[in-house]
Amino acid sequence: MSIAIRADRLRKVYPKSPPGSPAALEDLTLEVPTGGVYGLIGRNGAGKTTFVRIASTQLEPTGGQLSVLGYDVRRDDREIRTRIACVPQESRPLYFLNVEEVVYLYLKLRGLDRTEARRRTKEALDELSLTEYRRRSVQRLSGGLRRRTLCAMVLASDAEVLFLDEPTTGLDPIARRQVWEAIRRTIREHRTIVLTTHYLDEAEALSTRLALVERGRLVLEGTPADLRARVRYPYRVTLEGSFPRSELEPFGRVSEIEGGVMVFTREPEAREIARRALARGTRLSMGPVSLEDIFLEVVGRSLSDEAPAEEAEA
Ligand SMILES: Nc1ncnc2c1ncn2[C@@H]1O[C@H](COP(=O)(O)OP(=O)(O)OP(=O)(O)O)[C@@H](O)[C@H]1O
Ligand SMILES: [Mg+2]
Repeated sequence: MSIAIRADRLRKVYPKSPPGSPAALEDLTLEVPTGGVYGLIGRNGAGKTTFVRIASTQLEPTGGQLSVLGYDVRRDDREIRTRIACVPQESRPLYFLNVEEVVYLYLKLRGLDRTEARRRTKEALDELSLTEYRRRSVQRLSGGLRRRTLCAMVLASDAEVLFLDEPTTGLDPIARRQVWEAIRRTIREHRTIVLTTHYLDEAEALSTRLALVERGRLVLEGTPADLRARVRYPYRVTLEGSFPRSELEPFGRVSEIEGGVMVFTREPEAREIARRALARGTRLSMGPVSLEDIFLEVVGRSLSDEAPAEEAEA
C-alpha cells in the first residue's frame, strides 16, 4: 500500500497561545493511503483545520514530521504545492472575476494548457450545476454558490492530493450530493482526498478510512468497519411503542426516543430483542450503528473520562 501523507508525532502550538493551554495538535501520528477519501472528523477545535493547513504547507508545525507524497512540509514546500489543491475552511475567491474565469484561471495557473483548462472548466461547472451562473461575478454569488465555485476549482484540478476542509458546509442537499459525486469521480482517478466534515453521513458515505481527532490527539482510526468493531455496542435496535425498560437494560444501553425506545447492543443480543419484540407484535428496525453513534459513544466516553481532571470547556 503506498502512502500519500505520513504524520509522525506531529505537534502544533500556535504562537501567543495562553500559557498552559493545550497544543492544537499533540503527537498526531497517522498514515493516509494513496487513492481514496481519508475522513477527518472531530468536535470544533479538535485540530482538523490545523492538520490540513500544515499538510498543505500554509502553516509550520511546532514539532514532529509530516510528509506529503514523500516530500517534507518544512523542506520541500514548493514540491508539495504543485501537487496538491485545497478548499480551505474559510476563503475569499477573487471577487472581480466571474465563475467561469475563476475556475479557468486557477487551472491555467496550475500549469494546464488552454484546451485542457477549458475542457476541465466546462466539465466542473456542469458537474456542480454552475453552468447557468458561469458569467456571474463571484462577488454577486450567494454563500453556497461561492463555496460550490471553490469546490469546482479544486475538484477540476489535476492535483494528486486534495484537501477539502468542510467543502459542503452551507450547501443545499442537492449540491452536497453533486460534490459527493465529484469526489467519487476524483477517487476513480486514483487521487487522494483528505476530507473534513461535521456531516457524519457524508464522512461515512465517502471515506475509505477515518480518523477521529479529539483535542489534538488521534482517538480512533481505521476503515468504517474497524471503527465499528472498536465500540462496545455495534448494533442498534429501535422498537416502536412501549417496551419494559427493565427487560431491555441487561442487553445494552437503552434510550427513550419519540414514540419508542432505542437499544445499543451486540449482534446476538439484537437478535434476541428482535425475537421478543416480534413475539409481542412490536414493530422494530435494526442494523449496525452509524458513524454518528460511534462518534457520540467514543467522544462522550473520552469527555467523561477526562472531566474531573480538566477545566470545564465550552
Ligand atoms: N490562528 C490561530 N491562533 C491561535 N489558535 C488557533 C488558531 N487557529 C486555531 N487555533 C486553535 O487551535 C485549536 C484547533 O483548531 P482547529 O481550527 O484546527 O480546529 P478544527 O478541528 O478545525 O475545528 P472546527 O470543527 O471548528 O473547524 C483550537 O483550540 C483553536 O482555538
Ligand atoms: Mg476546522
